[in-house]
Amino acid sequence: MAVDKPIENSMREIDPKTAPIKDVFGYLLAGVSPRPIALVSTISSDGCVNLSPFSFFNAFSANPPIVAFSPSRRLRDSSVKDTYTNIMDTKECVIQVVTYDIAQQVNLASADFDSGVNEFEKSGLTPIDSVTVKPPRVLESPFQMECKLTQMVTLGEGGASGNLAICEVLRFHLSDKIMNDGSVDLKKLDLVARMGGATYCRSSGAAVFEIAKPTGGSQIGFAGLPEFVRKSKLLTASNLSLLAGASQIPSFAEAREFVERDKPLSAASGYIVRNYLRDSDHRTWLQLARTENTMTAYEQIAKRALDDTECDSQQTEELVTLAWMTLVYAHETLAST
Ligand SMILES: Cc1cc2nc3c(=O)[nH]c(=O)nc-3n(C[C@H](O)[C@H](O)[C@H](O)COP(=O)(O)O)c2cc1C
Repeated sequence: MAVDKPIENSMREIDPKTAPIKDVFGYLLAGVSPRPIALVSTISSDGCVNLSPFSFFNAFSANPPIVAFSPSRRLRDSSVKDTYTNIMDTKECVIQVVTYDIAQQVNLASADFDSGVNEFEKSGLTPIDSVTVKPPRVLESPFQMECKLTQMVTLGEGGASGNLAICEVLRFHLSDKIMNDGSVDLKKLDLVARMGGATYCRSSGAAVFEIAKPTGGSQIGFAGLPEFVRKSKLLTASNLSLLAGASQIPSFAEAREFVERDKPLSAASGYIVRNYLRDSDHRTWLQLARTENTMTAYEQIAKRALDDTECDSQQTEELVTLAWMTLVYAHETLAST
């Protein structure tokens, strides 16, 4: 079902087989972004400790717990990195997450030091003993995973080709600082992710938001939206998605009962309220819209409610209900006058 909104669709087509590898690398960094960062500690067979970050990294299974990262061959000479050699030799590593507090130190640890250089010493991060594996953990990271290598998948032989190190997590170590009862508080974790080149982002503040999960399978979808809603000039495709996530459209009787529960505000009190009202007082805004009693005023209230749904599922449901009630009420009452 096409959305009735213009979509800019002038695209560039690139064949990775003919594009320079450096460009292909850049496209992947930009498009598969932001990426979580694995800070990986390993030990060589002769006991040298190594610490390096890898953002080609993710989790793939919870049972058993499996994570994977990719220490690739160097672009300049196709040589393999120390982390690759160490993990192939010992089959062990510790993977820790990167928080904003340690991002600069982690960047320092990524410098191209000679083999045998201990990046803990270079970066000032603190090694502490692990429980099930030899490589040390990083004290400053609040989330650490002791791992054993289960499989190394070679993805190519040339410069910038990847080696997928698939690892099973043997132990999690989670700092009390990031816990809320039994689960990890994502806001306290304050993770940093890598984007393209030297660009990073931080998962805190306004960058962290919620989208309520669609439950069951009874959503009306875009195809179920009435034309007066779908053709709205004010509502965006995201606004429409929230309306399309409802399982039914309220009847006019329900909408009237909902909207007329409170009296419309007089123009004078409306003036006062307008100046002191918090943005989140959607119901009072609705009563103000009744004073104006135009389709645009009602649509603005519906939009305001739908734009404010980056909250928990219960609040989202209430705001979507308010938007539907407002739109149905406005359409029915104004269409019949
Ligand atoms: C945030 C960040 C993410 C990185 N991600 C990767 C990666 O996914 N794969 C890779 O091979 N190198 C990656 N690098 C570069 C390595 O960390 C760097 O080559 C390091 O020197 C490798 O160290 P080693 O030879 O001691 O293993 C990344 C660097 C930074 C700063």
